[in-house]
Amino acid sequence: MGTSPEAGPAGPATANRLTAHQLTLAYEDRTVVDGLDLEIPDGEVTVIVGPNACGKSTLLRALGRLLRPRGGAVLLDGTDLARIPTKKIARSVGLLPQTPVAPEAITVADLVSRGRQPHQHWWQQWSAEDERAVTDAMERTDVTALADRPVDELSGGQRQRVWIAMALAQETDLLLLDEPTTYLDISHQVDVLDLVRQLNHERGRTVVAVLHDLNQAARYADHLIAMKTGRIVARGRPEDIVTAELVHEVFGLESAVVPDPVTGTPSSSRARLGEPRRAERGGACGAGPKRGVAEAGHGPKRGAGRSGALLSRAGARG
Ligand SMILES: Nc1ncnc2c1ncn2[C@@H]1O[C@H](COP(=O)(O)OP(=O)(O)O)[C@@H](O)[C@H]1O
Ligand SMILES: [Mg+2]
Repeated sequence: MGTSPEAGPAGPATANRLTAHQLTLAYEDRTVVDGLDLEIPDGEVTVIVGPNACGKSTLLRALGRLLRPRGGAVLLDGTDLARIPTKKIARSVGLLPQTPVAPEAITVADLVSRGRQPHQHWWQQWSAEDERAVTDAMERTDVTALADRPVDELSGGQRQRVWIAMALAQETDLLLLDEPTTYLDISHQVDVLDLVRQLNHERGRTVVAVLHDLNQAARYADHLIAMKTGRIVARGRPEDIVTAELVHEVFGLESAVVPDPVTGTPSSSRARLGEPRRAERGGACGAGPKRGVAEAGHGPKRGAGRSGALLSRAGARG
């Protein structure tokens, strides 16, 4: 108890495990993110939204140490990621990139098994625990029947579920997912998002996901981050930050925001149909000018009451 970061009246204020401080991210001479501060709330589902090319994947890759910052740092438990051995990071942080590349001719079971590498030791390459984690991950993502198939012969949607299985098999407390629902039909999209919530609720996992659908993001996020041109425009609970003004500012879209009929979370749709869009489109790349961030208070975690509303689809798993 005394060692828990949130414990003890004399202890520090709750310190989230994954944070970024004055983070600057760039590719050669193109700065994508400039001086960004970020806290990923522990034990919650954070969803990042924003127009194409605004830097979502770049940020997620930096959080998973696939990209080295040009300036500032990503901190895990207060230590700069750059100072932590790769294998140790991989036992805490799992990252599913937006376009992962599978080794040629690898089978589904072999690829999912690679998620266990961070847990293996020179004296023990494969354990019963590894076997359990792989079996569990494959069942949860509905890919068990594909186990012996080569990954490069699968459909885009099947392949996406296999990658998610690999990330799950890693069994990390922090899971970073870049557009995990791309290529999936609507039913599998909902399955994956329900699974994310399940991992969060049952196992206390902290999840950061980039999603391109704002309404889905609002349904599943405890904490929503809206990005534009490399900066955070707003962050907080979806119901506190998603407004027509925000949708306009971030996506350049005139919309009406109404409560989702099923979950009550904010849901936006185009305000008018059939008119050519004249609004400025979001999405220019490069870090934009720093402006104030609309920040909604981040109070105590949501209880189970809310999750009941979120997992509303009939037949949703678990
Ligand atoms: N490997 C790369 N080399 C050079 N530029 C890149 C690279 N990856 C992304 N970019 C650029 O960085 C900007 C942000 O990209 P990205 O983070 O992928 O955006 P998002 O995920 O929000 O669509 C874009 O302008 C993109 O073209
Ligand atoms: Mg991306």
